[in-house]
Amino acid sequence: MEHHSQATWARVDEYLGVLAPVAPRFDEALADVLTRSQSSGLPEIHVAPNQGKLLWLLAKAIGARRILEVGTLGGYSTIWLASALPRHGRVITIEVDPRRAEVARLNLTHAGVADRVDVIVGDAHDVLGGLVPPFDLTFIDADKAGYPRYFDHAVRLSRPGGIIIADNVVRDGAVLDAASSDPSVRGVQEFLRAAANDPRVDATAIQTVGVKGYDGLAFALVR
Ligand code: SAH
Ligand code: DHB
Ligand code: MG
Repeated sequence: MEHHSQATWARVDEYLGVLAPVAPRFDEALADVLTRSQSSGLPEIHVAPNQGKLLWLLAKAIGARRILEVGTLGGYSTIWLASALPRHGRVITIEVDPRRAEVARLNLTHAGVADRVDVIVGDAHDVLGGLVPPFDLTFIDADKAGYPRYFDHAVRLSRPGGIIIADNVVRDGAVLDAASSDPSVRGVQEFLRAAANDPRVDATAIQTVGVKGYDGLAFALVR
């Protein structure tokens, strides 16, 4: 039995993937999204299928009706979140790169959820200040240097009992390097410190391995 290898993590993710499907039409749409994102030259840094399903499960579990996403890329995670919404629910997702936002809009249309999603093109640091509460769920997944400020906005915008999820909080263990000069690492460290000490939230973080390597997700419940 192999251990600790990327190949094993990827194979196990594939194995666990049997749990991820939601509905045949939806699964087909998600596969198309990845093909279209790839042929459009987008980097393959979207959440893994089982992570997308986790976002979907959490959104369903809390009955999320208004969802905020920071970092759209091609809309893969957006589609998972949008598909968890009840009728008249809404996802607002922010993407700084207009080309990526355009691919995302195309993907959302093909997945049949475009009518439930607002893709806002702009720097999330500027956009977030103009949004009004309440959001039930926020997924933070844009530039890691921005995480501390995104977290602060997310808490402000959340309803009590809302949840905030942040991707990529471990990055191969780089988060341990207290002397790191990498702005992404420093951003994640400052975000985790802020979440730990913020009296407005209860938070935790989980290490993950899988197709996306060794990384982690943080979760905060707003009081
Ligand atoms: N959530 C997506 C992946 C997002 S990748 C998924 O899982 O499918 C991160 C995205 O954040 C990139 O597309 C990048 O262009 C965007 N981004 C980076 N800095 C940003 C900023 N300041 N404001 C908004 N989006 C930003
Ligand atoms: C990168 C960004 C992500 O959000 C991710 O999940 C993986 C990688 C990146 O910028 O390299
Ligand atoms: Mg990510």
